[in-house]
Amino acid sequence: MPEIQFQGNRYPLDENENLLDGLLRQNARAPYSCRAGVCHSCMLRITAGCSPAVAPSLLTEEQIKKGYILTCQTRVTADLSLTLPTRDEVPGILTELESLNSTEIIIKVSTRLPFEVSIGEHITLVSNAGFEATYPVTGFSSDSQTLECTIVRSAGGSPFSAWIHSEARTGDRLMVIKNG
Ligand code: FES
Repeated sequence: MPEIQFQGNRYPLDENENLLDGLLRQNARAPYSCRAGVCHSCMLRITAGCSPAVAPSLLTEEQIKKGYILTCQTRVTADLSLTLPTRDEVPGILTELESLNSTEIIIKVSTRLPFEVSIGEHITLVSNAGFEATYPVTGFSSDSQTLECTIVRSAGGSPFSAWIHSEARTGDRLMVIKNG
C-alpha cells in the first residue's frame, strides 16, 4: 500500500487509488479545481520517490523533469513525498487575449495558486508546448490573482510570441515563473 508524505502528514492510499481522491478522503489540504487535468490547480512536486507516469499532453517536459505531477490524474504505486509548487513558480491559465494591433497582444493570465508580483517586474511564461519567454508585468491584481503582459511580435522573435500571436486561445495553460 503506497504512503504519501505531504505537509508533515502521512496518507496511506488504497491500491490503485487516485492520488487526489486519496488525499482528500483523508482531509489533506491538497489544492484542486477541475479534477480533469485542465486547470493545473492540483499540481504538486515530488521531493522523494519515483515519479509516476504522467501523460505527456498534461505537463511540459520541463515540468515532468522537475518532478511535477497533477494529483487528479495520478495513480501511485510506490511511496512518495510531495510538496506544493513554490510560490515563485505557479500554474496559470490564459484568460484573455486582446489584440492591440498587428504586432501587439495584451494577455491576461490567472494564476491558480497564490502569487505576488509587482508591475514592471519580469516573469517567464512557459507554454504547455515548452515555448518560453520573459516579459515585464504590465498589470497585476492580487484579488483576482491575474497578471497582464504585452506580447510583441517581431521578425525573428521568440517562438513563444509567435505562439501567442498565432495559436494561443483562452483556456490554454502556462507556467508563470518569477525571475529572481
Ligand atoms: S484539479 Fe484541475 S488539473 Fe487537477
